[in-house]
Amino acid sequence: MTNRPSFLWGASTSAFQIEGAAHLDGRADSIWDVYLHVPGRIKTNDTAGTACDHYHRFAEDVALMRNLGLNAYRFSTAWPRLLPQGRGAANEAGLAFYDRLIDTLLAAEIEPWLCLYHWDLPQALEALGGWQNRDIAGWFADYAALVARRYGDRVKRFATFNEPCVFTLFGYGLGWHAPGIADKAALHKAIHHVNLSHGRAVDVLRRDVAGASIGAIHNRQPCYPCTSSPADAAAALRLAAYWNDAFPVPQAFASYPPELLDAISPYIAPGDMAQIARPVDWFGLNHYSPHYVRDGTNLIGASFGPAPETVPRSTIGWPVVPEAFRDTLLDIHQRFHLPIYVLENGTAANDVIDASGHIQDDDRTSYLKAYTAAMEQAIRAGADVRGYFVWSLLDNFEWGAGYSQRFGIVYVDHATQRRIPKASARWYAEMIAARRALA
Ligand code: NOJ
Repeated sequence: MTNRPSFLWGASTSAFQIEGAAHLDGRADSIWDVYLHVPGRIKTNDTAGTACDHYHRFAEDVALMRNLGLNAYRFSTAWPRLLPQGRGAANEAGLAFYDRLIDTLLAAEIEPWLCLYHWDLPQALEALGGWQNRDIAGWFADYAALVARRYGDRVKRFATFNEPCVFTLFGYGLGWHAPGIADKAALHKAIHHVNLSHGRAVDVLRRDVAGASIGAIHNRQPCYPCTSSPADAAAALRLAAYWNDAFPVPQAFASYPPELLDAISPYIAPGDMAQIARPVDWFGLNHYSPHYVRDGTNLIGASFGPAPETVPRSTIGWPVVPEAFRDTLLDIHQRFHLPIYVLENGTAANDVIDASGHIQDDDRTSYLKAYTAAMEQAIRAGADVRGYFVWSLLDNFEWGAGYSQRFGIVYVDHATQRRIPKASARWYAEMIAARRALA
């Protein structure tokens, strides 16, 4: 149960969304630095040059985590900070930043969880085709080796990729995320090369880190048809093949889902599927809400939403369906037979500071209560869930929505960089403390 002493209660972030210092100490552009300067790409025209200035304020942020009683923290390393050109010469100043962060976490007794890729591909590699270029599997393996050798004495938990389905589908298929490409062949090449890179990185991490505990982070969510029409039902199945299965299925079972096989097979070389399906130690899950799907004319023939009127929604309009979370956890348990870590769950809300400087985000607290209760139901029904990480520690750069969507349990005043724990942060801290007392 979740009062086991070893259960992890953590928070997650990612490099591009919080670090800032975009052009400091040798960091070069990622595809997101380039993409967000194209007019109209980011709703609010926000940029991430400073973000939460975590690069300079990481010690304050670790102190916040410690005060909340977290025993784990998931972050990502920025590939363009460590290898500005994506390959070749490493950047010592960038490497030293994560030394400082990791040492500060360990001193606070917070276990570091390091994700190698949270969407910030070095622009220099995109210029060579990015995830469409099969050579990227070698570049990614070299990057993984650099990280493993530098930090593997202190970090044992490694994730290869965060939400590969989102950055491939949105970045190469639908053109909604960096690098902004909308092309069927680009999408299918990217899917296969990301899978190959995952398998290559698993080998490197096993080789270079004694006692490594390795996984990938997948977002899985039920895809429900918007209406009872057969066309919507078929569209929901098409989306689910890309969204839920394109990565975890080949990584676990060495084969692509039948719906995707024809499109991907031109890019599969002999030996690839075995290279992809390297054994891992856990399944990382990101989950927020289910999808409601309509038949559509886009490249995959499926569009998102809207949810039926009867489905409850959060302040920002995302469906709130805790049972879908419980069912997703049980489904992963039955299909993949791995320990599960929930590595993202949370909600954005319209947080306001009241006259006394307080943020009473009751809608976020209700969401977190309902979703952690659904997780406990899944655990009672047999799912082997070993940790829960809230998204996110801090309000941060929410990709195409810029700073307009606040997901943090800690408020960030982006003008002053002041951090203010919200009411939900206090609830989270009290819940964790109460469970520890029971353990
Ligand atoms: C998924 C992504 O991993 C993260 O970067 C994003 O901010 C959250 N979900 C919320 O959309």
